[in-house]
Amino acid sequence: MCPPVHFRVTYSINPWMDPAKPVDLQLALAQWEDLRDRYRALGHTVELLEPQPGLPDMVYAANGATVIDGRVLGARFAHREREGEAAAHLDWFRSAGYTKIHEPLHINEGEGDFAVTSSYVLAGRGFRSSPLSHDEAQEFFGRPVIGLDLVDPRYYHLDTALSVLDEAADEVMYYPGAFSPGSRSVLARLFPDALIAQEEDAGALGLNAVSDGRHVLLPQAAVGLFSPLRDRGYEPMGMDLGELLKGGGSVKCCTQELRA
Ligand code: ARG
Repeated sequence: MCPPVHFRVTYSINPWMDPAKPVDLQLALAQWEDLRDRYRALGHTVELLEPQPGLPDMVYAANGATVIDGRVLGARFAHREREGEAAAHLDWFRSAGYTKIHEPLHINEGEGDFAVTSSYVLAGRGFRSSPLSHDEAQEFFGRPVIGLDLVDPRYYHLDTALSVLDEAADEVMYYPGAFSPGSRSVLARLFPDALIAQEEDAGALGLNAVSDGRHVLLPQAAVGLFSPLRDRGYEPMGMDLGELLKGGGSVKCCTQELRA
């Protein structure tokens, strides 16, 4: 995670971002600290990335890399405004002792567009990550990559439209409206028992969630997801990241998972 010390909305690269809307930086920090503290209270280790001035979106740490089996696929950002973040992530991994690191040739925005289950790497395309990055990820990780076409600009990253609830059991939740008809069919075939989100909950960025297989941390405004999650045996935990929503991100965007 990366604290939103330099968080601002000074440009707009997704429909959620409006530079005319003021951001309360103190509140953003407090909300982010709540999320960090919640992970720690659940027993998870949180590593911190040093925030850099001039990189206001760095708080969305999920975008900086994808780590599976201790192998690190670096990011290459679609927009010039975020380009500098990729190197900061790579530096962190090198100094943390990671040795299997791949600097990508093709544009990929890390876990913004890559979601991991035990069987597949699900990969979004259409707005940010290049389809070519999917082949690159498949070769590097040696896991089957399933390309999914995103069609609604509000759901510009895969992690705004789909969330892995149980990696081992291949259980996911998603909002079908964010995907092309063909990709919807692919999802229905791979995940016949998925939790299907309604538009109101997806629109509150409710799918931008992080699950440890039991606790599901998600935006608290996505009220419709709570009881279906409980019915499946999960413990939903609503988080208020309202200030960070102004940049187009929430719980998952702020969290990059280090899969050993
Ligand atoms: N402002 C950032 C962007 O548009 C938000 C990124 C959100 N991160 C995510 N994993 N979806 O790039």
